[in-house]
Order: sequence, then C-alpha cells, then structure tokens
Amino acid sequence: MAYTMLLLLLLHQVRETEALRVIGGEKTVVQDGNAVLPCILIETQESLSQISWQRRTREKPQNDNFYTILPTTGPQFVGGEDKRFTFIGNFKGNNGTLLLSSVTLMDEGIYTCIFTLFPSGSHKTEIPLNVLVPPVTSLESNTPTVGKDEVLFATCTAAVSKPPAEVKWNISPLGEKVRAATSATQYTNGTTTTISSLFGVPTLEVNNQSVPCVVTSEALANETLPFTIQVHFPPMEVNIIKTSPNTFECESKANPPANFTWKRSGEAVSQPSVTVDGAKLQFLSWTPDLNDLYECEASNQHGNNSHKLYIQVVVVKDCCVAGWVLFALLLILNALWACYKFELLRRIIASVRGRQPVATSSNSPVRAQESLQVQDQQAEVEKISNCALKTLFMVIIFLMHIMLFEVYYIFAPIISVYLCCWLATAMFLGCSCHFCGLKRSGMPGRNFTVFYKHALLDSKKNLLELGGQMSNKFRANLGIHAYVMLKFHTNV
Ligand SMILES: *[C@@H]1O[C@H](CO)[C@@H](O)[C@H](O)[C@H]1NC(C)=O
Ligand SMILES: *[C@@H]1O[C@H](CO)[C@@H](O)[C@H](O)[C@H]1NC(C)=O
Ligand SMILES: *[C@@H]1O[C@H](CO)[C@@H](O)[C@H](O)[C@H]1NC(C)=O
Ligand SMILES: *[C@@H]1O[C@H](CO)[C@@H](O)[C@H](O)[C@H]1NC(C)=O
Ligand SMILES: *[C@@H]1O[C@H](CO)[C@@H](O)[C@H](O)[C@H]1NC(C)=O
Ligand SMILES: *[C@@H]1O[C@H](CO)[C@@H](O)[C@H](O)[C@H]1NC(C)=O
Repeated sequence: MAYTMLLLLLLHQVRETEALRVIGGEKTVVQDGNAVLPCILIETQESLSQISWQRRTREKPQNDNFYTILPTTGPQFVGGEDKRFTFIGNFKGNNGTLLLSSVTLMDEGIYTCIFTLFPSGSHKTEIPLNVLVPPVTSLESNTPTVGKDEVLFATCTAAVSKPPAEVKWNISPLGEKVRAATSATQYTNGTTTTISSLFGVPTLEVNNQSVPCVVTSEALANETLPFTIQVHFPPMEVNIIKTSPNTFECESKANPPANFTWKRSGEAVSQPSVTVDGAKLQFLSWTPDLNDLYECEASNQHGNNSHKLYIQVVVVKDCCVAGWVLFALLLILNALWACYKFELLRRIIASVRGRQPVATSSNSPVRAQESLQVQDQQAEVEKISNCALKTLFMVIIFLMHIMLFEVYYIFAPIISVYLCCWLATAMFLGCSCHFCGLKRSGMPGRNFTVFYKHALLDSKKNLLELGGQMSNKFRANLGIHAYVMLKFHTNV
C-alpha cells in the first residue's frame, strides 16, 4: 500500500516536472534603446523561493550572478548596482521580466533567468540580447579643377555600425562617367566602418550633377546624404548681350562664378555717360565721345577670359539731304527720258530749229539750197554721234525707268532714299550699306545703332572677325533710336 502511494506521488512529481517551463525569448534592440528581457515560469504549483539573473556580455565575458529577487527583500544587485536594470515582473505571478534601459553594445550577450523552486530546485532559460549599432554617417567632398585624370569627388562613410551598413551612390543619371569603390573595416567590438569613394574625371559635364549617397542599415531607416559634384573651371567664352536698348551685359560660365570688369581702352570705365554695374555696361546717351574699344573681363581664381566690343557712334544726318538730291536728280533724268520717249525733246528742238529757216526765208534759193546741203551733212554727223550717246543714255535711263517708274513707281522715293543712304554711307562713312534700310523706319537726323555680339580684335585693336549680328527684328526695334556702327573695314 505504502509502495503504491509512493509510486503515485512520484508519478505526480514527474508529470509536474515535465510540464514546468521557463519561457524567455531572443531580443534585438538598437543601441540606446530599452530592452525587455522576458522570463516567465509556467505550469507549476511549487513554491518559488528566488529569481536570479546571470549574464555573459561583451563587458563581462565570465558568466556571473548580477541580480536576485527574493520575496522578502525584493530585487537586489549582486556585485555592484546598475540602475539601468529594473524588475518589471511579478514575483507572485512567477514573472521575472527585467527591463534594461540605455542599452550599449557592451550589454550584448546572453542573459540567464533562473527560478529556484521548492522542492524541484532551479529552472532556467537563456535570453540572448542582440544590440544593433546605427552607423555614424558623414560625407567629405573634394572640389577638383577641370581636367582629364580621374579624381576623388567624395567619400561617404558609415562608421562603426553593427551589422555592417551598405553605402551606395545614386549614380544612375551619370552612368559610366563616375564610379564608386567601397571598402569595409571590422573592429573587435563587432562594429564595421564602411567607406565608399566616388571617382570620376572632372569634366564640365559632371559639374553640378547630384549624386546622393544612400546608407542602408538594419539599425537605421535609409539615410540619404545629398551631394552635388563641383568642378571648378576658369571662365569660359565671354558673351556680351544686349539686355536693354542702352545696356550690354557680360556673361560667362565659370565655377566659382566669375567676377566681371569692364574696361575702356584698357582702363576702368569712368565717364558720366557710361555706367558700370558688375557685368552691366550702360550707355546713358549715344554720342560720338563713347566711341571706343570696350572690354569685358570675366575672372575667378582659376583664370580669366575676355571679350571686346568696339563701339562707333556715327551721326548720319546728311543721308537724307543727299537722298533727296539724288532723288531729284533721278527725277530729272526720268523727265528727260520721258521727254525723249514722247518725242517732246525732238519737237522742241524741231520747233526751235524750225523757227530759224523762217527767220532767214528772205535769203536766195541757192544759199538756201547750200545751207540745206550743209545741214544734211551736219545732221549725218550728229546722227552718228547722237546714236552712240543715245544708246548709252537710253540704257541707263531704261534701267532707271524700270526701277523707278514702271516697276516701283510708288516706292521710288523710298528706293532713292535707300540708294542714297547706301551711296552716302558707303562713300562718306564707310558703312556696310544694308544697315541703311533702317533709315526707312527712322526719323531724319536721328542716329542708328548696329551691334555685333562678337568682335575679335588683335593686339593692335585691329578687327579680325565679326559675328553674331543681331537679328533683323532686333535691329528694327533699334532703328528708331540710334545707330552705332562698327567700322569693320578700317583696319582689317
Ligand atoms: C510579465 O511582466 C511583464 C512586464 O511587466 C509583462 O509585460 C508580461 O505581460 C508579464 N507576463 C505575464 C505572463 O504575466
Ligand atoms: C567599436 O570600436 C571602434 C574602434 O575601436 C570604436 O571607434 C567604436 O566606438 C566602438 N563602438 C562601440 C559601440 O563601442
Ligand atoms: C545646378 O543645378 C541646379 C539644379 O539642377 C540648378 O538649379 C542650378 O542653376 C545649376 N547651377 C549651375 C551653376 O548650373
Ligand atoms: C532602403 O534602401 C534599399 C535599397 O538600397 C531598399 O530596398 C529599401 O526598401 C529602402 N528602405 C526604406 C525604408 O526606404
Ligand atoms: C570677386 O569679387 C568679390 C567681391 O567683389 C571678391 O571678394 C572676390 O575676391 C573676387 N574674386 C576674384 C576671383 O577676383
Ligand atoms: C588674367 O590672366 C592672365 C594670365 O592668363 C594674367 O596675367 C592676368 O593678370 C589675369 N588678369 C586678372 C585680372 O586676373
């Protein structure tokens, strides 16, 4: 009987021991965060006499008892207090859960939770604590000057992270023009520093291109470090553009941006009728005293570049007077031609000549006969010389006629003014005559402006090349105001 009793008790004991369990769990926490180390004892009716915690961490590689919870005294530190640990469980509820705040990498390790029961003794479980360390990100950039050799643009660093961070450059818009090289260094404390370097040839093409660095790590949401490639270069081609009827502005690509200086004949511009404001050159009035060589120089620490503008203000007042004189002349020629054509001239001559014989009709018939013969001979000579003269005259007049009367009768005054301007400017001013077309829309006595974008001059200020003449539209807008001509024929 007693044997049976003992067997039953033993069986009960065994069943209870089999069901009894300590539940823990694995924990992963980001450095500086809080870690809950769970530990619960379940399926037991035995009395709990003590909960104790042991640890084996990076800081303390030897397994040691550091915390005990007794029903009488409550939680107690063993071998030094660490206020970061708090007992948040419940002794009566067989809940030994601990809270560890401000976790550091040194806390990483294995925590063992031990329940001491009566009579079955101690029961434990291990709770591994995994600490993630977010990387310390930084970006260092270089600013190379434009060149042909590959250089380092920037380095992107994800320092001391656990697990290793991934460092990438978002180079897709640039494709093959840049390349990245990545290296990693691992430390004994389990952290890794990842460095990615961005290389490329410093060309104008890659300048101002955005290539952000993206750091991906388990302990951190993706972090993007913005980076824009900066390539320094000296001022490129300098352009002078007209921004308003009286203002010229200098433009040049450069990095860092260029400083602009305007010079007149090699010296600083200082004149009441011209003002300089940075890249701007403004003429306050169009007078011939502005005539000069203006130079715009763009410079930065890497070099300089310049462009010259030759301005010549020419007053072309006389043009119209000459035009009307020529027009009158052409009109007379036309009238003469008309007279000739309608035989008016001949009739007038005939009537003039016809009167003479009438006046000498009292002379003898012989004399009259002789004089008639002489007249015939003279007429023959006159006929031949007149023929050649008339032919030439006719050709000239015919051309004029076609131009001025039969085809362009209505526009004749304009044409002659144009022709006059053409001739007058060509002869007296040496200008290129197509500019005179402007005069049509201009007012008599006003000046005209013609401006070239590029004027290439040699060291003796001789004009070598002219380009970028303004569009007709632009010139037409300008026509009514002033006329600045470039005497480009003079020195070439
Ligand atoms: C044990 O204690 C922790 C912390 O107070 C709590 O979150 C958890 O729910 C408890 N477990 C049980 C089974 O009561
Ligand atoms: C790990 O070691 C590296 C190198 O010695 C050190 O710079 C870093 O601060 C350490 N990290 C932690 C979290 O202690
Ligand atoms: C650089 O790029 C930005 C954005 O694409 C643009 O706004 C800026 O004007 C550029 N700067 C230069 C100097 O080209
Ligand atoms: C982080 O970047 C990776 C690729 O670099 C991507 O797959 C992931 O979705 C990104 N995560 C977030 C939160 O943006
Ligand atoms: C450009 O001008 C600024 C201000 O006038 C001056 O500080 C700077 O040194 C100049 N840079 C160069 C390259 O001359
Ligand atoms: C422009 O560059 C030339 C050499 O290329 C140098 O002699 C000159 O001093 C520079 N001018 C300025 C204003 O920096």
